Amino acid sequence: EDPRIDGIKTKIRVVPNFPKPGIMFQDITTLLLDPKAFKDTVDLFVERYKGKNISVVAGIEARGFIFGPPIALAIGAKFVPLRKPKKLPGEVISEEYTLEYGSDRLEMHVGAVNKGERALVVDDLIATGGTLCAAMNLLAERAGAEIVECACLIELPELKGRDRLHGKPLHVLVEYH
Ligand code: PRP
Ligand code: MG
Repeated sequence: EDPRIDGIKTKIRVVPNFPKPGIMFQDITTLLLDPKAFKDTVDLFVERYKGKNISVVAGIEARGFIFGPPIALAIGAKFVPLRKPKKLPGEVISEEYTLEYGSDRLEMHVGAVNKGERALVVDDLIATGGTLCAAMNLLAERAGAEIVECACLIELPELKGRDRLHGKPLHVLVEYH
């Protein structure tokens, strides 16, 4: 394992009982306060994806907007925001996903991604995988992109979110059990 990962892990704050009793919240804002740990995080992804012919980095609102753009710039890809409902002014395609209570939706501008483009999907964390699954549906099924990989800083493996990614690879830096 890369020696930088330990430093990254120590900068993620784990907050018990947020946002609800019984939930452990992995807070990445403390990582962002440390320029070395923030840079190491971005660098680890950039080292993995540069030279892989990726033309699109898709980031998931909101926390995927923190890590996606610096990765996109460093590997020379465009950045496509996958947004929560009713934020994008143009024609959109959208995919619903279920939450513990109710559902939400991700939207992407039509024409942002072309058929056959090689895409990387970026978010901060995968829990149940519902969010990433919706992102994959938008990019692969709807827009016809080729998903190279999903990249998340954090995985909660017990929630088995990985199983919802249609067999597409997922790369994470840190796991919480
Ligand atoms: C969080 C997290 C992931 C998602 C993971 O986002 O940033 O995007 O949940 O959960 P899942 O794997 O069970 O779908 P959230 O929508 O809570 O808020 P955000 O706008 O702060 O990113
Ligand atoms: Mg999120």
